[in-house]
Formats: sequence, structure tokens, C-alpha cells
Amino acid sequence: MLTFRSDLKKKKPVVVNVPHKNDMMCLNESTLPLWKSIQDAVLHKLDAVPLNRYFNPITDELFQRLSDYAEVPREWLAVGNGADEMLYYLFVATRENAESFGVSAAPSYFDYQSYTSAVGMGIRLVNFAPDYSFPLASFLDACNHKDCKLIILCNPNNPTGHLLDASCIKTVIEANPAKLILIDETYYEFSGVTWKEKLDDYPNLVLVRSFSKGFSAAGLRFGYCIARPEVIGELKKVMTAFHLSLLTQATVCAMLEKQNLFLQHNARVKELKQQLFASMATIDGMTVHPSATNFLTFSVGEETPRLFDFLNENEIAVRAVWSHPVLANTLRVTVGTAEQNGRFLNCVKKFMKERKQ
Ligand SMILES: Cc1ncc(COP(=O)(O)O)c(C=O)c1O
Repeated sequence: MLTFRSDLKKKKPVVVNVPHKNDMMCLNESTLPLWKSIQDAVLHKLDAVPLNRYFNPITDELFQRLSDYAEVPREWLAVGNGADEMLYYLFVATRENAESFGVSAAPSYFDYQSYTSAVGMGIRLVNFAPDYSFPLASFLDACNHKDCKLIILCNPNNPTGHLLDASCIKTVIEANPAKLILIDETYYEFSGVTWKEKLDDYPNLVLVRSFSKGFSAAGLRFGYCIARPEVIGELKKVMTAFHLSLLTQATVCAMLEKQNLFLQHNARVKELKQQLFASMATIDGMTVHPSATNFLTFSVGEETPRLFDFLNENEIAVRAVWSHPVLANTLRVTVGTAEQNGRFLNCVKKFMKERKQ
């Protein structure tokens, strides 16, 4: 079939399959409507951003504001359309040949598999233990191969929600000084944990961040990398010119100008998460796991698939994450508004009550 790469034949197109329900608690999105809160500031910025041009000083402003927010020099930053695009660029930049592979613990963010295969790279997945602890010995083994070109650590991890053991991360980094280590900090604004301070000690680190979660802007598509300038320089060799729309750049500048709005919202999300966790933990027959993100994983044992259907029938979309054995019969729910969380809890309680009868 035409001249497409032959290894694409067995790959499926990238499609995110979720039901569209009244309460969307399945994609770890924010409940804060972005546009309303920044509309005036964005429109004001756009007055000085003519879209008939490629270049605009807004790019300088973006790097300056992001450098202030992330507390790193601007030369330590690369920006793009969501964390996903930054991941994609990292895969393109580290793939040497068809034997090249990345290593990730599993279960983790599904798109590591999707995008490595998109660029013609493999991925080796090393399972977490059933209690989510890090599989250090087998992980180090998988990394210790000449074709391992990229080591991926999702921290906190999606879909489990937990933070990886810091001493394990350190051991992995120190055992692999010549390999690029990607730490995915997409949920940084909720966890408050970053490896940014370690960039001086470990020049092989690259952090990936997103505006989709902690900045309530999933639809905007903005993400960035933090790394030493030598790493950023290599990454920039595979990026297309003018890949980030001036519209996005202006919007991000306005958001960073008003960052307290988002950061305050995150404090509320964390509070709501604790309340949701506490309420779920009191439900008889429910197991719920602590999380450093804006979502929780939970299970009601073998009845979980029926609960998933029941929630759907009641217009509540959560995510089924049970395809991996470590997460057998497990669902993931994104923290919603107090009202959404209430509807979700009532629905789960109703299901559990009916189940008993
Ligand atoms: C761990 C992780 N990395 C990356 C992404 C992609 O984020 P973005 O929307 O910025 O592309 C997600 C999205 O859910 C995620 O959970």
C-alpha cells in the first residue's frame, strides 16, 4: 500500500475512545472553564499579534514568563503543543534505528507506546509490583542494553496516581549517565514534586510538563520541556519551525500573567480530592488508592465492569484502566466539582446498595 513505512501496517490510528457524558470524569481535565477567566487578557495580547506574520515579540515574552514560572533560565526550555508533542519530539530525537527502544514502568501513560511506535521505535515495559512499588532490578536490567535510548519515568504516574520512590529514580539516573532520562511531570502542579533542582547534578535529565492539567487548558495544547541547554539544543533539531501558533503563545502569556487563578484552583482541586478520597474509602467493598494527581483509582472487585456501565448509564464517564494486570478491575475517576463528585458518589453508593439486595 503506497510507500508508507511498513511497520505502520500493524499500528492503529491514534484515537482516544471515551463516551461523551454529562459528567466527564475520565480524562483528568480541569473543571475550571479557561476562556471566561482570561478572555480580556488574551484579546488584549492579540491586538499586538498580527497573524499574517511568522515572527512576533510574544515569543520572547512567552519564554520570559515561562522561565519565571518554572524558575529556570529560558535556554533551558523548549515549548510545544501539549506534553504529547514534547514526548513525540523526544522519541524522534532519540531513535537511532529500528532496534532502538525506550523503557517505561507499566502500567503508565498509554501514549508512550503509541508515539514510540509512531516514530519507529520500540518500548519495553516493566511491570510495577501489585502494590505499585517500583520494579528496580528488572527496570535496571531493561535499561542496560545498547539499544535502550530513552528511559521514561512518569512521576506522578498515570494511571496509578502514585509518586515513584525517589531513591529508585536516583538509582536509575545514576546507573545510566549516558542515556536520556525523561521524567514526565504532567501532574506537577498537583504533586508539587519536581526533579528540576537535580538538573545541575544530572545533565541527562529532561522534564516534560503540561498546561492541560494544572493550568486548566487541555484544549489549548501547550506543554514544555525543561533540560540543560545541550539537551534542549538537540531537541530543537527535530522540531518544525513555527510549530507553536502565535494564538497559543499569546494565550499562554495571558495565563501566566494570571497564574494565581489557576494555582488557587489547584488548591481547591486538592481539597476536593481529599474529600472524595475520604468518602470513597468509607464505602463498603470499595478500594481506593491515594494519589498525587487530580484523579483517583478505585475498584469494587469483580463487579467493577458493571459499575463502569452503571456510571455510564447515569451520564458519568470514568476511565476503565483495567487492561493491565496490576490494575485488574480498576477504574480511574478525575476529581470534578463538588457537585460532580457528589453525583459520582451517590451513583456508586446506589450501585453498591442494589448489588447487595
Ligand atoms: C502522564 C501524562 N503525560 C502526558 C500527557 C499529555 O498531556 P498534554 O495534554 O499536555 O498533551 C498526559 C495526559 O493525560 C499524561 O497523563
